[in-house]
Formats: sequence, C-alpha cells, structure tokens
Amino acid sequence: MIPPDFIDDVLARTDIVEIIEPRVALKRTGQNYTGLCPFHTEKSPSFSVSQDKQFYYCFGCQASGSALKFLMEFDRMDFLAAVELLAGRVGLTVPEDRQSGSDESARRRKTIYEILDQAAAVYREELRGHESRDRAVTYLKGRGMSGAVARDFSLGYAPPGWTNLYDKLAQSNYERDLLIESGMVVENAEENKTYDRFRDRIMFPIRDLRGRTIAFGGRVLGDSKPKYLNSPETPVFHKGRELYGLYEARQRNKNLTRLMVVEGYMDVVALAQFGINYAVATLGTATREEHIERLYRLVSQIIFCFDGDPPGTAAAWKALQVVLPFMSDGRSAKFLFVPDGEDPDTLVRKEGREKFELRLDQATALDVFFFSHLAQDLDTSSMEGKAALSKLAIPLINLIPEGVFKQLMIDELATRTGLDAEKLLKVARETKPAVAGRPRDVPVRNDGNTGISLSRRAEAPLAMLARQPELALELDDASYQLLSQVDDCSLLAEIALAVRQHELLSPGLLLGYFHGKPEAKLIRSLIEKEQLLDVSALREEYIDSMNRLLHGLEFQLKQALNYPLFQKPFSELTAEERRQINDLPRKKT
Ligand code: GTP
Ligand code: MN
Repeated sequence: MIPPDFIDDVLARTDIVEIIEPRVALKRTGQNYTGLCPFHTEKSPSFSVSQDKQFYYCFGCQASGSALKFLMEFDRMDFLAAVELLAGRVGLTVPEDRQSGSDESARRRKTIYEILDQAAAVYREELRGHESRDRAVTYLKGRGMSGAVARDFSLGYAPPGWTNLYDKLAQSNYERDLLIESGMVVENAEENKTYDRFRDRIMFPIRDLRGRTIAFGGRVLGDSKPKYLNSPETPVFHKGRELYGLYEARQRNKNLTRLMVVEGYMDVVALAQFGINYAVATLGTATREEHIERLYRLVSQIIFCFDGDPPGTAAAWKALQVVLPFMSDGRSAKFLFVPDGEDPDTLVRKEGREKFELRLDQATALDVFFFSHLAQDLDTSSMEGKAALSKLAIPLINLIPEGVFKQLMIDELATRTGLDAEKLLKVARETKPAVAGRPRDVPVRNDGNTGISLSRRAEAPLAMLARQPELALELDDASYQLLSQVDDCSLLAEIALAVRQHELLSPGLLLGYFHGKPEAKLIRSLIEKEQLLDVSALREEYIDSMNRLLHGLEFQLKQALNYPLFQKPFSELTAEERRQINDLPRKKT
C-alpha cells in the first residue's frame, strides 16, 4: 500500500488545473474554471474545477474528486499508475515497499526488471570495450550519430557470439530462468541449448515511464535480415502498448506540450540529436488506442509522422480513425507527411531543426486530412459525390466525443455538401459510429457483479462509507431521510441509517449486517475497489461530497416546488418572481 502521507504530498504539489486543462477545455470564470463535463454528454458547461480546493465537480452528473480521481476516471488509469504519473510530474518516486511487492508475480517482475537493467549495462559496456566494438562505433558514426545522444538513449552493443550475455549474467539456474523469461536468452529445449537472442546488433533499450528497461530493439550493423529484432512479449513488455523514447522525451522536457509519433528507433534518436526531443516511435506496429491514450495523458497535441507514399497515407488514415474517439475539445492531432525516399532521420540531418520544426508547425490538421482523404476519389461537385461524402463522413464524425470540434466537423461537412448542418446532425444521431470505439461517457455505473445500479453522485460517498462506516455518524438522520426519498440515493441512505441505528462501525460489522444480501456484495466490491482511498482525508471528503449531494437534492426539490415559476414565459414573470428564480441555487442541466 502506498503511504497516505505520500499521496497527500503528491497532491499538495500538484495543480489540478494543470492536470485537467490538457484534457478538458477550461475557461476561467471568477474563482473557478469551467468547461464541458468529460463524464457526461452536455451542451453547456457544468463542469467546474476549483484551484483553491484542488477539486473538480460537475453540477450535471455530480462527478467529483481530486486530481488523482480525475486521472483514474478520465484516463481510466488504475490507482497506482495515476499516483505514479502525478508523482513523476512533481519529481517524486513512489515508495517501493508496496503491498503488491509481496505477491509472487510482482516479485518476479521486479527481478525481470533487474536482469534487464543488467543486460542494458552489459551492452553499454560492450559498446565501450568489446574487442569488436569498432564495427559498432563505425556503424553509428557512419549514420551520423553523436556520442552524446547514444549516451542519452543508453545505446549499447550486443557483440557477435552465442553466449556473451548468457555467460555474463547466468550465474545460477535462477538467473538463467530469468534471462529466458525476460526474452534475452532463447531456449531450444529439443537440443537442450540456450543462446543469446541478440547477437552482433546495436541495442536500443526500451524503457518505461519510470526509466526501467523493459525490452530491447536490436539493429543489424549491415543489410542482413531481419533488420530489427525486438524482445518478445514478456510479463513486463507488451509491444502494442509501448512507445520508444517516451521516457527520454519526458526526461528532457519538463513541460511537454506536444509529442511526435514516428516509425523508427533511429528516427527518435536522430531527432533528439537535433534538439527535437519529443518524438516517440511505435515498435513496428500500427498506432493503437493504447498509444493514443498514453500520449494524450501527457500532452494535448500529437503529430503523426508518416511517409508520403500510398502505404504511408494508408497508415496515417488508420491512425486518424484510432485517434477520432479521443478528440475531445482542447486536443489536437496533425499529420506530417515526409517527402518520398526520406524518413525523419534523414530529413532532420539534411534540414536541421528549424526547418523540420517548421514542417511540424505546418503539418496537416486532422480535419483537413479527414476531408481531403474522404473526398479524393469522389466528384464532390455532383449530387452523388456529396451524398457519398456525407455517408462516409458521418459514421466517422460520430466517433468524435461531443463538443465544439465535433460540431465544427459537422459544419465543415455541411459546407462541403451544401446540406443543412442541423439535418446532418440529425442523421448523425441516427447513425452508429464507424468502428466500435470505447465509450467515453459513462455517467452511471451499472454494477455487473451485484446487479445494483448506483448513480455516480451516490457512489463516491457510499464507497467512503464502505471503507469507514463510522463516517455515517457525521450527518444527522434528517439528511439521510432526505436522501432516501430519491431513487438513486436510497441505497446510500439505507446503509448509512443502518450504520447509525446498529452501530456498524467497521467494514466487518457492516458486511455482517448485510450478509447474504446483494448489498454485501456491493459493499465488498466498493471496499476492494476503493481500497487505496486516502483514509487520512476521508472524513473531509465524505462531508464535502455529502454536502454537495444534499445541496443538489435541495435544488431538485426546490425546482420541483417552483415548477410553476418555470412554466411561465420569462417576460410574464413579476419582479418578485424573477428575484425568486435568481435566488435559487445554481445548477445547470
Ligand atoms: P533504419 O534503416 O535503421 O533507419 O531504420 P528505420 O527505423 O528507418 O527502419 P524502417 O523505416 O524500415 O522501420 C521502421 C520500424 O519498423 C523500425 O524502427 C522497427 O521498429 C520496425 N522494423 C523494421 N524492420 C523490421 C524488422 O525486420 N523486424 C522487426 N521486428 N521490426 C522491424
Ligand atoms: Mn531510417
């Protein structure tokens, strides 16, 4: 378990606005920041971020919490990853003695990390001292690589020979097994032989965001095949998720604003050598959702770099489709097509940083690429062409989250087809998205385990209550009675009242009381899920969230009472009635 003090410390050094702003377009309004809520679909902004309180809150769907909670909900990060990300931003390292370290698979992972780090050190060493190092150094120099950038990326050399690494690191069967498990050594069981996977190759260590080596890419020195060899999938390496150079980019840039996605290891390293140290590469795979998710977690602008030839354009179009569901307002994606016969590595060496960055600044915006690509084989001056364009475009536009950007895309389609934007929007609403993108708006959770559904606004306090039932004593019966009148909160009220009446002051007592009922299952799942809730601040958070909830309910009730007021056209209201409306608690719907 991460010590609560540590989390407090991380949160104290974090500015929630900096976390949310790259992900949600925010406007300053007085003390707070507001924007469209990322957790439910809405047209006018109900989402508010308080810098003072370091808290976000949505008046529409009651989503609320700290920067940590935001990352977990919005980026769907697990607790640990979110803490790590926040800690990393403020230069803290999560203490190692975590509970998970005690379980076998985590201990195993740790030693895989260790063996991989040792391997990286061996390869670095060989590049400096092995008898055939000259070949490697000559190769790198021949490609124009500087010693400094080779050091920054911890490049190394796996010398020729079958058991260099094996002999150095396999002191016992334990290390031998680890070398096999980490993919560094290949075992041929039939012939009872083990040998190094990487031989006579330039070695690129692939590091995770914490700087731990998780895999390698190795390039041949000449033209033999395969040109690149990557580590296989291992417990610590999932190729489709990782991005080469992300750790190094973060290391070199305290304030990353954009990241460029290129194809090759060499591209990343060459760009960095020329001062463009915000490039990352997928590891020989197409751009995937996991990549995009990672990138937008760190920056709000992504520039994809592809060859300008037909396969490059096809790959770019695929990337565009993957990125559409992530295009909430405030984010941008651009496409840079490099001239025929070049790649970023060769181009930046020819042109230098300034010219290359000019290309980046002038890269094709997503919407431009979108429409030009769709329209390329269509005669959009004809009726048929226009119809075809909207037919192709609408399911794709539907992948974009609700917001200004989506509206602009609809407007652009309207302009290009001469069709009415309202009509297009209507068609869009009736059309399914093109590809099954992950749903981005999940305002109400339907607990699959228990069959109980719980609104978001009631979930947070209920989770805290499950963790620390005595919190139910913080409010009076009357408050809970108010809650029990409202469907989605009645369960919360029921549990809180039971705690008060029967003094169920620990999770154990609470579970015992509801034993055998669906409530017990829900409570247990909440306890597990929220196991890492920061207990030290629980009381305040509970009171805070309950107050907001009660305030919201009061508003609902008042609104119901004042219903006749809202029925009248505004012009017919008396001054007194206008004042009454004005005095109502504010809440956007
Ligand atoms: P250089 O020729 O060294 O400049 O490499 P490059 O990055 O320009 O190579 P290329 O554009 O051909 O490939 C881009 C990326 O695809 C590489 O960085 C690798 O990640 C991957 N790749 C290329 N060739 C191979 C291969 O033979 N095997 C595997 N597994 N991956 C490859
Ligand atoms: Mn290349």
